[in-house]
Amino acid sequence: MPNESGFAPRGLRADVVESALAGLIAAPKTLPAKLFYDAEGCRLFYRITNLPEYYLTRTETALLRSLGGTLLPDGLHDAALVEFGGSDETKARFLLDLRASSGEPVFDTYVSIDVAETALTDLRQRLAVSHPYLMTVPIAADFMAPLRLPPLTGDRLGFFPGSTIGNLDPGAAVDFLGAARESLGPNSWFLLGADLRKSPAILLPAYNDAEGVTAAFNLNLLRRLNREAGADFDLRCFRHQAIWNAEAGRIEMHLVSACDQTAQVAGHTIMFAEGESIHTENSYKFTPRMISDIAAAAGWELRSVWTDPANYFGVFLLRHG
Ligand code: AVJ
Repeated sequence: MPNESGFAPRGLRADVVESALAGLIAAPKTLPAKLFYDAEGCRLFYRITNLPEYYLTRTETALLRSLGGTLLPDGLHDAALVEFGGSDETKARFLLDLRASSGEPVFDTYVSIDVAETALTDLRQRLAVSHPYLMTVPIAADFMAPLRLPPLTGDRLGFFPGSTIGNLDPGAAVDFLGAARESLGPNSWFLLGADLRKSPAILLPAYNDAEGVTAAFNLNLLRRLNREAGADFDLRCFRHQAIWNAEAGRIEMHLVSACDQTAQVAGHTIMFAEGESIHTENSYKFTPRMISDIAAAAGWELRSVWTDPANYFGVFLLRHG
């Protein structure tokens, strides 16, 4: 990544070091899920989305494909699609390809906000070829940070697919949706994809696949810290664990220490007891009612809900009047 200001001395990424250390010094230990998505993490996540156990991506994609133009409110034109956490434009394409009755594309602008800088560069190049008329605005940022959008004159539709909202604790989800509402402004719309509550017998394999890709994705977090945060984690001494936390209504991913050990992170010594975990991710699972409550608390009104026939995944259209 070419941005000099992001580097600490000795080639370390100051932002990565800082967010990793904060979590590793805490009790219980945590690491922020946004650190998963370095180049290798993006590749592993892409493989996850094609796993037989990981129903989320293909279910949401099938929903978006089959709903087509019926997803959009009537009369959108010269519109901007603003995707949060959209390191890849696959799902956005279902919307970007939609045309108004006049034959004109509904969207003339696509803003994509993501921490994965290299992915944004690739996305911009692909869209320049397939959608030359489209103004593509990549913004390399944590979508949770305060955001100033470029001036957008037409209609605005926020887009937050993939159940990324499930990574946020409910309070943070409300904060995020409220901040997105303010950035998008009055008379805007928001399309949200959320994974629905279902049996742990279906949820757990999605986060603990037979091929071990999710385990590799989880462990890559430590490998990234070894590369970018001056750390020396021994990857053979941590194992991937996914559990269903019924009280909180979420899948949790952990990296569990297989022995008593210490690791160095940017000059700090972190001690692990055997069996101690680093909590690396939450993936909350929702009822439609929960989504409408979270949306309402953030000032959005729920206008439509679509689900697949098995009720695995929901797409929710929100309105800011
Ligand atoms: C991209 C955050 C929605 O929580 O299901 C996949 C990430 N983690 N397997 C999810 C993930 C483990 C994914 N999200």
